[in-house]
Amino acid sequence: MTISTSADMPLPKRLKLEVARRRTFAIISHPDAGKTTLTEKLLLYGGAIHLAGAVKARRAARHATSDWMELERARGISVTTSVMQFSYDDYCVNILDTPGHQDFSEDTYRTLAAADSAVMLIDAAKGVEPQTEKLFRVCRLRDLPIFTFVNKMDRQGREPLDLMDELETHLGMRSCPMNWPIFDGYRFVGVYERSTELVHLFEADEAHGASEIEERTAKYGTPECDALLTPAARARLAEDLELLDVAGDPFDLQRVRNGELTPLFFGSALTNFGVRPFLDEFLKAAPAPSAYPTEEGATVEATDTAFSGFVFKIQANMDQAHRDRIAFLRVCSGRFTKGMDARVPRLDKTIRLKNPSAFMARERSTIEEAFPGDIIGLYDPGLFRIGDTLTTGADVRFKGIPHFSPELFRRVMIADPLRRKQMYKGIEQLAEEGAIQMFSDWDSESPDIVGAVGTLQFDVLQSRLQIEYRVNARLETLPYQLCRWIVGPGFDPKKFQRGQGSSLARDRDGHPVLLLQNEWGIRWATEKNPDFKLLPVSPTVDHAGSLKG
Ligand code: G4P
Repeated sequence: MTISTSADMPLPKRLKLEVARRRTFAIISHPDAGKTTLTEKLLLYGGAIHLAGAVKARRAARHATSDWMELERARGISVTTSVMQFSYDDYCVNILDTPGHQDFSEDTYRTLAAADSAVMLIDAAKGVEPQTEKLFRVCRLRDLPIFTFVNKMDRQGREPLDLMDELETHLGMRSCPMNWPIFDGYRFVGVYERSTELVHLFEADEAHGASEIEERTAKYGTPECDALLTPAARARLAEDLELLDVAGDPFDLQRVRNGELTPLFFGSALTNFGVRPFLDEFLKAAPAPSAYPTEEGATVEATDTAFSGFVFKIQANMDQAHRDRIAFLRVCSGRFTKGMDARVPRLDKTIRLKNPSAFMARERSTIEEAFPGDIIGLYDPGLFRIGDTLTTGADVRFKGIPHFSPELFRRVMIADPLRRKQMYKGIEQLAEEGAIQMFSDWDSESPDIVGAVGTLQFDVLQSRLQIEYRVNARLETLPYQLCRWIVGPGFDPKKFQRGQGSSLARDRDGHPVLLLQNEWGIRWATEKNPDFKLLPVSPTVDHAGSLKG
């Protein structure tokens, strides 16, 4: 691909080229499958870093020097999402790092709402693991094309055909090997690339993949290739290629983009084997930014010249030096320029977008312009909410990001009634950031019920209430394990049959919600209230339209 653009080009032409070169994706995996390692190697091959190992080291150093998100440090896990941008060939690549902790599937969903595809990373020895499956399901809700990278081929793993079988039985997804490993474990020497019939052979380096490694390439079946492969590798590859002709589905871009087929790659992020072939083929096949649907039933094309975007994440205190909030915005159409004015239809307000930032992991740099697929960070004085649309064109609203049913509920209690206002402010801020959900009892105006998918978020809430709002809160466990959003005409709380042990509440938008103790309660309430639907996600429609209420 050869793309060059310049600021003097007419905007429509430039936009078309800038959109065509953007690839925005997220990597999903079970912890320890090698996401950090692969991300780092992609940055290495993209020239964004010069020595792998740096991201991890920097992360550790930050932990030692900053008290940013104390819990993250205390627990040694990554709670937040970083965004990384780099160029590779003519592509402009944005990687969205999804939180790996299992408590954060809604956060993951929000990240995926800003991605155009996902890379599912699998440990060759472990196959599809629980968290892989959970994140895969979240991707399917978004109808995202999924590419699979089978990692750790430098170790003795499972047979590739077994792994393909597992993808189909566990995830219901057919796969299409884009390349094929030549042996595994200590004998893993390279991959055969099916589209080009090239054999890529790699040389391990002394530094364990800290730098790019030597690579030799030859067309399969040529004397040159035969000379590169040992007789055993030649025989093994010939045998595998015969099998491959009947295993897996042919590559079909439309089926990939429909999410029915996953292109499969093999490699080792640690030793860099297969990283470049993956990046080359993946960037070719992965979709560029396309149209986003709006609440009004229209779509906004990425190449529309009016700027638009939506907020998919809000984060407080990214940096202790700036005690501010950052709203992460995915550009959906047009060109974003520093200092431009944009409307926020929800607020019926026009605001000036000053100090936009681009991100390299947790480092910020000011940017002058951005294009569809890019993620920018906006200074947020408390204006934005997750899901907000910003636009310079017609007042559209992108389809919202729904809330998922929490699995744990607590009532926030404080001893000092004078701190109550601060407490609500703190809860509201954390709900806006999407860390927790807040509810109030149906008959009360006090949003003192909080819901989350894991206890970690409650710890975050408690500690942030303490640090930022000087509120000493106690969290009382409530007996509910799930909630359902009630949708239907003429909801009347007096007539709605809630069943024993369940209670009625409102979410922060005022929607009626039923808090329940078990699945049985849902079946009961569904039967007793035939005019209503009980939804596991808030009645907003996602971008792909698969969660319609
Ligand atoms: P994560 O972000 O998905 O949790 O995984 P991460 O990259 O941190 O990798 C988890 C462990 O797996 C690390 O080892 C890492 O070095 C190893 N790893 C990643 N990719 C490969 C690979 O292709 N082959 C092999 N053999 N190992 C791989 P660790 O010992 O836990 O950490 P470290 O001391 O190496 O940092």
